[in-house]
Amino acid sequence: MKAIVTAIAHHVPPDVYDNNWFTKRIDTTDEWIQTRTGIKERHFAFEGGLTDILLPAAQEVLRQRGITADEIDCIIVATVTPDRVFPSSAAILQHKLGAKNAWGFDLSGACSGFLYALVTGAKMIEAGAAKKMLVLGGDKMSAILNFDDRTTCVLFGDGGGAVLLEPSESDDYGVVDHILRMDGAGEVHLHQKAGGSLRPPTIETVTNREHFVYQEGQAVFKSAVKGMADVSYEIMERNHLTADDVAWLIPHQANLRIIDATAERMGLSKDKVMINIERFGNTTAGTIPICLSELYQTDRVKRGDYLVLSSFGAGYTWGSVLLRWSIDKKEKA
Ligand code: UT7
Repeated sequence: MKAIVTAIAHHVPPDVYDNNWFTKRIDTTDEWIQTRTGIKERHFAFEGGLTDILLPAAQEVLRQRGITADEIDCIIVATVTPDRVFPSSAAILQHKLGAKNAWGFDLSGACSGFLYALVTGAKMIEAGAAKKMLVLGGDKMSAILNFDDRTTCVLFGDGGGAVLLEPSESDDYGVVDHILRMDGAGEVHLHQKAGGSLRPPTIETVTNREHFVYQEGQAVFKSAVKGMADVSYEIMERNHLTADDVAWLIPHQANLRIIDATAERMGLSKDKVMINIERFGNTTAGTIPICLSELYQTDRVKRGDYLVLSSFGAGYTWGSVLLRWSIDKKEKA
């Protein structure tokens, strides 16, 4: 038995901020942002919380599958920007959705959060512990960006997505394999300095602007290029797949150059790499479900396709998932 994706959707806040929006505020250029990252614009919601972004995606998943919220038995939300430290965004979302029979939890895996959550959900399905799992990944990065720090604020965006996981009797489709990794030594290069139990909020932490993303870009870049390429190649190799067998690489969208290096290592041509960084920036746990949802919406993925999902982010956390796609949009229409 395998866990298959039976519905997928995403949501981003409506307001779009292009690179020129930043050039009026900080010392940067559209050219620098595009050439160094590939980003042209991103969506921000300066009001509301993460669950306001995820709720429409979750509702669309239920609509697609034709089920009611009370049929969901577990909700996992992967994020580093929950509505509150507690209760979990899973609990808040459960209430907003009316999923009164669901339990659930948040999972903190930064940019790899969705992959961690997808594998966790799939294992619960395979163990028979759940029949309808709602797995979401998303972040409201605008809540933790220092808009005076040009090295970070131009990189991120708000958004997220949701999948419904269900058991399938057939072993042909679903989450086939995964490689998940973590190295806490990466903490020094990418973290949020204050707000947790180590450094609770004080006037000093606020004045020092410690509640924002801190990133040493080049150090993260070097590890990301190697980490993402290694696991993406390894998952192909150990499942005896060649580049011809892979329909799509669905990479975390942090930097076009990291994505290109991963595709090159796998021997994949550019037309097999899902990229939407130019429109959304880096939505942290949101990038992979948003990519997958856009592929599905635009009918570019069909049942039986082998998809390699891969990510790298804070922790460090990184990994790859081999997913054999299970739903055909044409048949559903
Ligand atoms: O998703 C979580 C994981 N995160 C990642 O995977 C991100 C990995 N890192 C990166 O994507 C890249 O390192 C960045 C896009 C963050 C930065 O690109 P870079 O090519 O590594 O640039 P850099 O940090 O080496 O900075 C080069 C120059 C510096 O100026 P000097 O010291 O050479 O004079 C920066 O101060 O670019 C400057 N700079 C900017 N200039 C204009 C940094 N940010 C900006 C900016 N506009 N927004």
